[in-house]
Amino acid sequence: MSITKKVLLVLLAIFIVIQFIRPKRNESSAATPNDIFVHYPAPDSVKQLVKIACYDCHSNNTAYPWYANVQPVAWWLNNHVKEGKRKLNFSEFTAYTFKRRGRKLEGVIEQVVKEKEMPLSSYTIIHKNADLTDLQRKEIADWADKTLEQVMADSLTQKSQL
Ligand code: HEC
Repeated sequence: MSITKKVLLVLLAIFIVIQFIRPKRNESSAATPNDIFVHYPAPDSVKQLVKIACYDCHSNNTAYPWYANVQPVAWWLNNHVKEGKRKLNFSEFTAYTFKRRGRKLEGVIEQVVKEKEMPLSSYTIIHKNADLTDLQRKEIADWADKTLEQVMADSLTQKSQL
């Protein structure tokens, strides 16, 4: 057997073996009473937009594409989800302190509009419907701005303190 063939066979074997090492999926059927849209209502169009563009990495539920069943793609995806969720989880938003809610919303305005870092470009290459137009970015920023006002009003009255 030629050396190239041997190398290919070893690579194939590795590829097959790693298919059995699956990360735990970010999927939950539990209710999410702390979801940002439960306490801070928004127009359906904005809700839809944020769910499509952000919830795969910033919520308790990722809508997995078929290739998420293939390793090492799933590991790579899983890292983004874990990291994104740790930094900002819209499903747990009202469990945050008012200060943290405010900081995260400011972060949304900054990352989505000013720096255009979110959604990650590695994600929008595949998820074309999350590749936001400037208008959609502005829509999200306006929503974050309004929600920020509500958070500040809440923090003054403390009425929703958990
Ligand atoms: C493919 C996964 C993915 C998608 C989709 C995504 N994000 Fe992120 N997001 C991340 C990761 C990973 C981080 C942490 C690393 C970083 O800051 O670059 C992050 C960080 C952030 C942060 C900073 C949080 C902090 O406190 O540091 C904000 C704000 C944010 N994302 C908002 C959004 C919004 C809004 C959307 C939708 C328009 C979105 N993201 C879509 C993965 C994603």
